[in-house]
Amino acid sequence: MSTSKNLTAKKAGPLQGVTKVPGDKSISHRALMLGAITVGETIISGLLEGEDVLATAEAMRALGAEVSQGSDGLWRVYGTGIGGLKEPKEALDMGNSGTGVRLLMGLVAGHAITTKFIGDESLSGRPMNRVIKPLEMMGATFEAAEGGTLPLSVTGSEDTLPLKYRLPVASAQVKSAILLAGLNAPGCTTVIEERPTRDHTERMLRHFGLEVDVQDQDDGSQAISIIGQNELEPCAVDVPGDPSSAAFPAVAAVINEGSDVRLCKICVNERRTGLYVTLQEMGADISFEHERIEAGEPVADIVVRSSGTLKGIEVPAERVPSMIDEFPALAMAAACANGTTTMSGLAELRVKESDRLQMIADGLKACGVKLEMGKDSLTIHGTRKPPKGGATINTALDHRIAMAFLVLGTASDEPITIDDAAPIKTSFPNFEELMEDLGAEIG
Ligand code: S3P
Repeated sequence: MSTSKNLTAKKAGPLQGVTKVPGDKSISHRALMLGAITVGETIISGLLEGEDVLATAEAMRALGAEVSQGSDGLWRVYGTGIGGLKEPKEALDMGNSGTGVRLLMGLVAGHAITTKFIGDESLSGRPMNRVIKPLEMMGATFEAAEGGTLPLSVTGSEDTLPLKYRLPVASAQVKSAILLAGLNAPGCTTVIEERPTRDHTERMLRHFGLEVDVQDQDDGSQAISIIGQNELEPCAVDVPGDPSSAAFPAVAAVINEGSDVRLCKICVNERRTGLYVTLQEMGADISFEHERIEAGEPVADIVVRSSGTLKGIEVPAERVPSMIDEFPALAMAAACANGTTTMSGLAELRVKESDRLQMIADGLKACGVKLEMGKDSLTIHGTRKPPKGGATINTALDHRIAMAFLVLGTASDEPITIDDAAPIKTSFPNFEELMEDLGAEIG
């Protein structure tokens, strides 16, 4: 694991250039996991080689799949088939990754093996009961630390039961864990979600040849169903760029006058693009160009040109799932806008890699921004220009808090320092270099 390191961003003028951010984290995890339960060769291009995904690659090896990267840069996975994972000899260390651990808990719960999961301090504090509860209903048993946290062990049943389950929280991780367990259950497993969350698991299962049925319900919810114990077909997966990573250079371009940045080949699945819609409503000049479908996902170049001062807006609560990881970035834009931006329905931000609501509020206040934080809301009062800055921000092992405040530092009057840049490697290993290539000064 990386050692901690301060990093400082200072004002350096406009950002300009054409670039490509690393592969989408959600899609990368899923490509490795589905490849690992498919007989034959799955070839993955554009895989995110960040610590979170590398931990998943290592876990899939420990569970019996062959996972390797060739000299051509492509990743190849030879899987075990549905129900074929083997018991790992040692605990799987998932590092900082909530997605890695929650999705894998589902996958191994569908196997009659015992798997122990451990993680870093941030991951060890995150709630797992939301996944444990439905997986217990499917026949798995768990031993977890008090409060349902890591370290925990899962023992799957010989006879996994199919399940029909209504999600109590809007969470793609919980939905995916249940569907992955259902892959080895006889019959139909259905997850009902009231608010649409990212659908990468559904899309990728289809890409691997499985039928996924999605039905709109009378009450506005959606029921997603699969039939278990059907083998998947090996395929090629081309992972598009991560819109959650692209959010950082995009917001940096929006808040630095004279910027003009093209972010190539980004996943623009509408369940992920809430930030971009919100920035457009605030007056930003953002367009999606060359839109197309690749490996079952909508992809486009995101072009961002500065367009003068942003205006504060009210962000609709129903948009939250489509931008759940983007509030740190949005908050930085709101701090530079003219007027007040209100955000509500943010309870889930409190259980991410850090309590993001608190970390955003503390960091912005230290930079001279006026705001009010509620239990699940945030109101930021922008003063039409970037804030003073000049603070050192506690990143609390949270990559997105780290990158967001560095982005603000590219525009604030005084430099902004983050106390620990190491977490950035979990999702965006070349962040510093890419931002410098666009003209930012970070070091
Ligand atoms: C993810 C789902 C989201 C998101 C996370 C990735 C996924 O979490 O915050 O970064 O890949 O399914 P929740 O499902 O907890 O909302």
